[in-house]
Amino acid sequence: MENEKIKVGVLGAGTMGTGIAQVASQAGHNVVLVDVNEEVLNQSQTKLRKTFERLIEKGKWTDAYANDVFGRIKFTTDIHKFAESKLIIEAIVEKIEVKHTVFKQLESIVGEDCILASNTSSLSIAGIGSVLHHPNRSIGIHFFNPAPLMPLVEIIPAVQTSKETVDKAKKLIDSWGKVSVLAKDTPGFIVNRVARPFYGEALRIYEEGIADFATIDWALTTYGGFKMGPFTLMDYIGNDVNYAVTEIVFEAFYYDPRFMPSFTQKRHAEAGYLGRKSGRGYYEYSEGATLPEATKDEKLGKEITTRVLAMLINGAADALFLNVATKEDIDLAMTNGVNYPKGLLKWADEIGIQEVLDVLQGLFDEYGEDRYRPCPLLKRMARENKTFFS
Ligand code: NAI
Repeated sequence: MENEKIKVGVLGAGTMGTGIAQVASQAGHNVVLVDVNEEVLNQSQTKLRKTFERLIEKGKWTDAYANDVFGRIKFTTDIHKFAESKLIIEAIVEKIEVKHTVFKQLESIVGEDCILASNTSSLSIAGIGSVLHHPNRSIGIHFFNPAPLMPLVEIIPAVQTSKETVDKAKKLIDSWGKVSVLAKDTPGFIVNRVARPFYGEALRIYEEGIADFATIDWALTTYGGFKMGPFTLMDYIGNDVNYAVTEIVFEAFYYDPRFMPSFTQKRHAEAGYLGRKSGRGYYEYSEGATLPEATKDEKLGKEITTRVLAMLINGAADALFLNVATKEDIDLAMTNGVNYPKGLLKWADEIGIQEVLDVLQGLFDEYGEDRYRPCPLLKRMARENKTFFS
C-alpha cells in the first residue's frame, strides 16, 4: 500500500470524524467524509474552515496550505463515494446495531484490500468485525479528542484481524505523525482503562470526607504534576460523558470493583451539573463565580497524591500483567493520550515498586475491598527487587 496515494474514507462527520478527516488530509491523502446528515456535513465544513482561519491568523498555516488541506476533503452523504478507498475509519454513533449495518454496507462497496477500521471507544472490535465476510480486514483505530491535537492513536487488532492489516494500519498511522500503540481488544483498551482511578479514587477520597474537590485538584497538580486536577478535568470532559465511560468499562469487566463508578459523579450528572458545558459541575462556571480555595496542607496533599498514583500504577501494572499492551506502549499511551506528566510504569520505578505495593497493601488491609487488591506483578517484582525499565 503506497501510503501517500491511498484514498481514505471517514464515516461520520461529528466531533471525531471531522478531526480524523483533517488529520488524514494533512498527511496528504484524498479524503471522503460521509455522514447521513447533510446539516452535520455543513457544520463539519464550517468547523474546519474556522479552525484553519485561526491557524492562518496565528501564522501557523499559510492560505495555500489551508486550501490544500480543505480541498483534499470531499464532503458527501453518498457512501458509494468510498468505492476507491483503501482505508475507512468509522466514527459514527456508539451503537453496535448501527455499526453492524454500516460495516456490512461498507464491505459491499469497497475492494477486498480495503481496511475497515472503527474509532469506537467502548465496543469490542471482534464484535464489530463479526458481520464481515472478511473480518481479517477489521481493526480498531482509536483517536483521542481533539484528533488533530492529541498525538496518541490506539491500534486494536481483534481476534480475527490479520497481521497484514495490523502492520499496514500501524505503518500508515505512524506516517501521519501520530504516536501509535498496540492494544488488546479488551474494555477501554489502554487509556480508558488505566486512567479510571484518576477520577474514581479522587471521587472516593472526596466521598470519605478526606478532602474537598479543590484540595484534591490542588494536591494532584502540585505534588503529582498533572496539568489538571481530576475534578477540573471531569468538568471539562463532562460528568455525563465521563460517568458513561466508567459505567461501560465497569460492566465490560464483569463488575470488577476496581472500576466501580461513583454515586457522587452519577448524582452530579443526574442533577445536570455536567461541568463547563452546563455552567456548573463540581465547580461553578457562571460569570463572576470564584473557584473555592484549597486547603493547602502539605501532608494531606502528598497523601492524596500517593493514594491516587498508587491506584493508577496498579491499573497500569494490571494492563501489563494481562498483556493488554507492552510496558513501553502503556507509558506512551498515558503521556500522549491524556497528557500525564510521566509514564505510570516509569513513575513506579522512580517511587520504588515496594513503596507502591506498601500503599496498595495498606489500603487493601484497611478497607478489605477488592478494589485495592495489589496486582500480582507488583508483588513478584517487589519480591525479586525488579523494576519495569532498567
Ligand atoms: P458524534 O455524535 O459527534 O458524531 C457521530 C456522527 O455520525 C453524527 O454526525 C451522525 O450524523 C453520524 N452518523 C450516525 N449514523 C450514521 C450512519 N449510519 N452513517 C453515516 N453517519 C452516521 O460522535 P463522536 O463523538 O464523533 O463519536 C464517534 C465515534 O468515535 C464513537 O464510536 C465514539 O465512541 C468514538 N470516540 C469518541 C470520542 C470523543 O471524545 N467524542 C473519542 C474517541 C472515540
